[in-house]
Amino acid sequence: MKKRIFSGIQPSGALHIGNYLGAIRQWVQTQDKSDSLFCVVDLHAITVPQDPKELHQNIRELAAIYFAAGIDPDKSTVFVQSQVPEHSELAWILNCFIPMGWMQRMTQFKDKSAKKKQFSIGLFDYPALMAADILLYQTDAVPVGEDQKQHVELTRDIAEMINSKYGDVFKIPEPVIPKTGARIMGLDDPTVKMAKSAEKPSRSIYIMDEPDVIKKKIARATTDSETEICFDQNRPGVNNLLTIYQLCSGKTQKDIEAHFQGKQYSDLKRELTDVVVDKLTPIREEATKILKDKKALDDMLLKGAEKARGLAAPTMNKVKAAIGLG
Ligand code: AMP
Ligand code: TRP
Repeated sequence: MKKRIFSGIQPSGALHIGNYLGAIRQWVQTQDKSDSLFCVVDLHAITVPQDPKELHQNIRELAAIYFAAGIDPDKSTVFVQSQVPEHSELAWILNCFIPMGWMQRMTQFKDKSAKKKQFSIGLFDYPALMAADILLYQTDAVPVGEDQKQHVELTRDIAEMINSKYGDVFKIPEPVIPKTGARIMGLDDPTVKMAKSAEKPSRSIYIMDEPDVIKKKIARATTDSETEICFDQNRPGVNNLLTIYQLCSGKTQKDIEAHFQGKQYSDLKRELTDVVVDKLTPIREEATKILKDKKALDDMLLKGAEKARGLAAPTMNKVKAAIGLG
């Protein structure tokens, strides 16, 4: 049997090239050899305040980008989390079993809440919903960034705890972390991650950015005062630009360093702009086309949600029977 894969991205802002290189690109490669579900996790997005109109737009845009980047609805199940109520239902049930102390250890919550005066219970409970996403489909593997590893490990602990009480209810999932390009950094500040937040548009290259915007952003990207162009962790700006170049061009580090020997940062930035524009233009154009036909996109997502509900039903029945509900 093919391995079951589940992953998702929050529609909490515009998608950037880090999301593409670090996540979606890998998903496209795995969909042939696995039985995959790719979700627009909108219920996770509302753990922090969202503008309703923007959220609605971001959900559609994210789904359109999944398809435009090559996720094939005939091979994978693509859907919006809130259209499959079993996610919330299972999350509630898990809530009633997860010890408070396990949740209090989650570093992402500690980081996110420390920066805020006020935050919702949803933000604290985020990992329980993520565990429900994964366990609902008896998932084997979860491709995620390094920062989500702790949440997948929590998911494993929850599944093992419930299985030890009630027998074989859940499959124990494995996290899968990509090796290269797992972390694309900000163009304006290469010591922080490229991120979806709209506060610093110069930080990120968005998938929907037009070529002239990409050119300007790369031209202004932070480098350093040295001259040699090489992969070096201690020079985060240049290292980041070269990493993006490597992932977009598919060339080896050795070939790239040889190619840029004796050249200047302005050459690197010009050539980087070309490979990024080549990579993103077809995706942006296809996503724009998909977004224009509102009904066709809605239908595709509805079909995905129906398929997902069919896959979720046996797990829900099993869980409810195990704990004495229903
Ligand atoms: P997020 O944007 O944090 O919701 O993450 C969605 C997916 O994109 C996750 O699988 C992340 O690992 C990946 N991702 C997010 N930001 C980056 C980044 N700067 N570099 C590489 N991958 C990223
Ligand atoms: N928390 C993940 C992130 O921010 C998104 C997510 C939600 C997810 N549910 C998931 C990822 C289930 C993998 C599996 O990146």
